[in-house]
Amino acid sequence: MAAFRTRVVRSIPALRDTVARWRRNGESVGLVPTMGALHAGHIELVRQSRAQCDRTVVSIFVNPTQFNPDEDLDRYPRQEEKDLKVLSDVRADLAFIPVVEEIYPEGFATAVHVGRVTTGMEGTVRVGHFDGVATVVCKLFMQATPDKAFFGEKDYQQLTTIRHMARDLDMPVTVVPVPTVREADGLALSSRNAYLSPEQRRIAASLNRILRETARSIAKGRAIDAATAAARQALLDAGFDAVDYVECRAEADLAVLETLDRPARVLATARLGPTRLLDNVSV
Ligand code: PAF
Repeated sequence: MAAFRTRVVRSIPALRDTVARWRRNGESVGLVPTMGALHAGHIELVRQSRAQCDRTVVSIFVNPTQFNPDEDLDRYPRQEEKDLKVLSDVRADLAFIPVVEEIYPEGFATAVHVGRVTTGMEGTVRVGHFDGVATVVCKLFMQATPDKAFFGEKDYQQLTTIRHMARDLDMPVTVVPVPTVREADGLALSSRNAYLSPEQRRIAASLNRILRETARSIAKGRAIDAATAAARQALLDAGFDAVDYVECRAEADLAVLETLDRPARVLATARLGPTRLLDNVSV
């Protein structure tokens, strides 16, 4: 029997034609948006989509509008052939791999801005980032018209932003959160982990440990301000070069919390050299 091969389309009409054919057969469609450099975290998203939908589309698009001028868009790993092998192995039906002009043609002048949940944290450090994410994900939703779309909890503020966008704009798609896939020592899988030296990789593991300890101490009644300040210091002591933020926010809408009066998440970003590592845990 011939090995399964994920089909590739690069144009929006070809994507729409395939999805329309599936729909005529009564099949449901799952979408997994990615920027490529696929790892086990992405594979888990595809697995979830395959388990919950008849057909799975994976988009691979390094979205320029979500990178700031000081972030190296050109340095972002691109490995199409390797990614297609991964997708074939997990039997994703279709890979949508557009060029930049397919998504942002000459004269493109629209942006989707999601308010409130994008303020603070990544929204402060990466100004404009979530407008880029919301715009491209909105376009992917319009192009692939999925029943469900799958996003990792690792990028928790991104997940919350997309959920709010889909709800506020009445998009007929269910946004499905997928728990973070981790290495044995707790480090959340990320394409950025590839940039770490062996020493940085050792330090990186302490991010999740410190966040879990912080969440436990808040759950036991420690004041949120004191707990997050202690976490910041613990990250620096563990060897991180800088800490962008450690915050405890409401799980549903990322509201700033003064006391633990509803389900919450502790979220942080810390830097090792030029590499930013994100993680979050529930309280
Ligand atoms: O999480 C990502 O890889 C990207 O932000 C996404 C959701 C694919 C949008 O470009």
